[in-house]
Amino acid sequence: MKFFVDTAEIDAIAELNELGMVDGVTTNPSLILKSGRDIIEVTKEIADLVDGPVSAEVVATQAEAMIEEGRKLAGIADNIAIKLPLTWNGLKACKTLSSEGRMVNVTLCFSSNQALLAAKAGAAFISPFIGRLDDINLDGMELIADIRQIYDTYGFETEILAASIRNVNHVTDCARTGADVMTAPPEVIHKLALHPLTDKGLETFLNDWEKTGQKIL
Ligand code: G3P
Repeated sequence: MKFFVDTAEIDAIAELNELGMVDGVTTNPSLILKSGRDIIEVTKEIADLVDGPVSAEVVATQAEAMIEEGRKLAGIADNIAIKLPLTWNGLKACKTLSSEGRMVNVTLCFSSNQALLAAKAGAAFISPFIGRLDDINLDGMELIADIRQIYDTYGFETEILAASIRNVNHVTDCARTGADVMTAPPEVIHKLALHPLTDKGLETFLNDWEKTGQKIL
């Protein structure tokens, strides 16, 4: 499963990128707001930093304007994925931009029927929002499993990019369910390394080592 980082914070991306943990980056208007940066500038910096796809989201709501914004965002770098909302206008824009050979990430997906439409419109990625479904007492992971089954049944090549990941269990569940990609905030990716038994075991080893009186270096 590929790891995308869901942030527009350069330092956090750079830190994880050095560890080889970044296969791509996703941003959205809320994350741009949080970063306090200009969308074009920060997207260029991110795209220069990482090799994989960097999603940048349009804010127009009419198809023609979405296409224009999408082309402008795609012009920032070769690895930009144009992020479009799952509306009929978004699907129209997806069809046009995908036909031009551009990478499109269709976002705000909350049903398997929406995912089916995005695949038929040529999306490179579909972004189902797990956490936001869980927030309203629905099952985000069930959606990932349904889309996996549908895409595999018909051979759609659109990658399932599990988004709105809020915790480490979401990451495990995505990997078990066969999401192609998961995008998570840097804090969630950091938490993946944590285990109390690792800390406890290390403490014991270091205490015992101390008692040997030896040194390696
Ligand atoms: O990639 C979409 C993601 O940022 C949404 O996450 O936590 O705002 O639902 P959240």
